[in-house]
Amino acid sequence: MESGAVFAGLHPNSPSHHLLLGPSRSAIKILPPPISTDHKLLSPHSLSLQLQKQTRFASFSNHSNNNVNSLRVASPTSNVASELADIDWDNLGFGLMPTDYMYTMKCSQGETFSKGELIRFGNIELSPSAGVLNYGQGLFEGLKAYRKHDGNILLFRPEENGQRLRLGAERMCMPAPTVDQFVEAVKATVLANERWIPPPGKGSLYIRPLLMGSGAVLGLAPSPEYTFLIYVSPVGNYFKEGLAPINLIVETEIHRATPGGTGGVKTIGNYAAVLQAQSAAKAKGYSDVLYLDSINKKYLEEVSSCNVFVVKGNVISTPAIKGTILPGITRKSILDVALSQGFQVEERHVAVEELLDADEVFCTGTAVVVSPVGSITYLGKRVSYGSEGVGRVSQQLYSALTSLQMGLTEDKMGWIVELK
Ligand SMILES: Cc1ncc(COP(=O)(O)O)c(C=O)c1O
Repeated sequence: MESGAVFAGLHPNSPSHHLLLGPSRSAIKILPPPISTDHKLLSPHSLSLQLQKQTRFASFSNHSNNNVNSLRVASPTSNVASELADIDWDNLGFGLMPTDYMYTMKCSQGETFSKGELIRFGNIELSPSAGVLNYGQGLFEGLKAYRKHDGNILLFRPEENGQRLRLGAERMCMPAPTVDQFVEAVKATVLANERWIPPPGKGSLYIRPLLMGSGAVLGLAPSPEYTFLIYVSPVGNYFKEGLAPINLIVETEIHRATPGGTGGVKTIGNYAAVLQAQSAAKAKGYSDVLYLDSINKKYLEEVSSCNVFVVKGNVISTPAIKGTILPGITRKSILDVALSQGFQVEERHVAVEELLDADEVFCTGTAVVVSPVGSITYLGKRVSYGSEGVGRVSQQLYSALTSLQMGLTEDKMGWIVELK
């Protein structure tokens, strides 16, 4: 296992913006997190708690020479509330809230990632000629950390995100961190920003890993240098509807992906490409857009940032993964949860007409979790589902998945990674 994460102790007056520590450095001075003007000042009490808590990170360092990778943290605390950032936890939306630290690790083309660091959250510097800015050589990931009632912090299948990033990096001609490096970097970033993890039941800490061509390149070619970066933000519900059913419109002209393209990986350009259709849909009052395949224009693909499922009786169907659809980790998990609950699951071509006599439709994704669909409009015709609110199957699967993710039920699947 290899991870280069170190928690650099930073002095606010230090001329250097960040500090890179070599594998052998273990005595690290930790100072309290920066206090952004966006956030209320910490009380001296909470500041001292922060200091006590942050010293834990001093024991997290990389000893790559002897393959010992230690992450030692204090035992779960019983007084969680007093250590939280002072923000309105009851009204979290899905927007960026600057936190304390971000993780960064660089490597050159042809080399491997080896040493990362935690630095203050803030803007990054890029050449105007960076590969990511000029040619879209970039990928992102998304996962969440939940705070449990006993003070523990839980991640959901982070190794799946690490693996997906690696597959995407191959497609986009980029080096990528190993899955172990990815998971260790995620853990370090979450722990460094622990006070931003919402209290149980109020939301989660959204974790956004990025991989980008950060080196300067003028002619079209892979970038000479790459940056892996992770930042985090506390979040609540993704859709403004909250858990209420969303309203989708089927897009018949614009396609999210084409065979042979990059729809199956989480590259940044896939998202810019859907903004036009998504903005038009939102302007008409829809929550988001449901895309069709670009060849036959009749099979469901997915929504801008989530997968789609159709329920008919005891059968739950979702479009098969075939290169144009992002292999969602929530999708994969829901298929397993549904199977374990006695549903029949099918991954296949799902024709748009099947929406007409479906019992329920729902979407899945890290950000949206399991989001019930209230209506779908296709060629001007609107089909509604669940006149009595959230459908039974959507509700059942939502509860099963979120109970697992939040540590409220036993993790029989082995999907949860505990940070303490
Ligand atoms: C296009 C697209 N489809 C599906 C998903 C759902 O994937 P996951 O469940 O891994 O978050 C996402 C979100 O990452 C996405 O961007």
